[in-house]
Amino acid sequence: MQMDLKGRVAFVTGTTSGLGRHFAKVLAAAGAAVAISGRRADRLAALRKEIERDGGRCADIVLDVTDAAQIGPVIDRAEEALGPVDILLNNAGMSANGPVADISAPDFDLVMATNLRAPFLLAQDIGRRMIRRGKGGRIINIASITAFRVLPGSAPYCISKAGLAMMTQCLAREWARYDINVNAICPGFIETELNREWFETAKGKAQVQSFPKRRLQQAEDLDSTLLLLASDASRAITGSLFTVDEAQSL
Ligand code: NAI
Repeated sequence: MQMDLKGRVAFVTGTTSGLGRHFAKVLAAAGAAVAISGRRADRLAALRKEIERDGGRCADIVLDVTDAAQIGPVIDRAEEALGPVDILLNNAGMSANGPVADISAPDFDLVMATNLRAPFLLAQDIGRRMIRRGKGGRIINIASITAFRVLPGSAPYCISKAGLAMMTQCLAREWARYDINVNAICPGFIETELNREWFETAKGKAQVQSFPKRRLQQAEDLDSTLLLLASDASRAITGSLFTVDEAQSL
């Protein structure tokens, strides 16, 4: 089974930190040319240099995923630089935390625009291109175990991730005939900018002790699933929601 991505082009959102940064390097190391995107131009440029220094092909493109009007032009730029996109990795995400009674409408909207609408619009734009090209493709959404299990204090986040899980299945069903495979990875808790402050609190530390392995996961734990879903090895896998969480959700 081939997990080699030579000759493939991947577009990744939210690559200026955490998992997105890590995933971009993993895809590049597997041979894909990678269009990295995010809001912080300086961090994108630094990551592009790092990937190029390691022998990869890379284009860095500023994209705020909530800006729907930018999506088409940005994918045009990525394709001009690297060629048609074969793999979309919807990674960018954020949370608005607090009791449900205190969540404001703008905060709710921002979580939905980032975690749900943006992956949909990116998949729609890139999916249309894949359909026109007729060579299939791969769309990978980074959901979460909170798609299935309540994380108290993060209702908008959980709701958005549950929506993303269903979106994965809707698109997979509709695009199976075009060989566009759409899957989601549902990771457990991994320490990143998203949650670092929380895991430094006493309650955060107690939460880690409640996990079966009494530890946070590492970004590297997701690499094998990512490469499987990005590559030819997952030809028959579509509409699947892969929990990779060291049993945290059980
Ligand atoms: P992170 O905060 O380090 O990364 C999220 C990235 O998304 C950041 O680079 C951020 O700037 C970017 N982003 C947010 N809003 C954006 C926007 N409007 N436009 C462009 N980029 C935007 O956190 P992490 O953990 O690396 O998160 C990556 C993905 O993994 C997210 O979708 C998150 O929900 C998901 N995830 C994370 C888990 C964890 O425990 N760290 C567990 C399960 C899922």
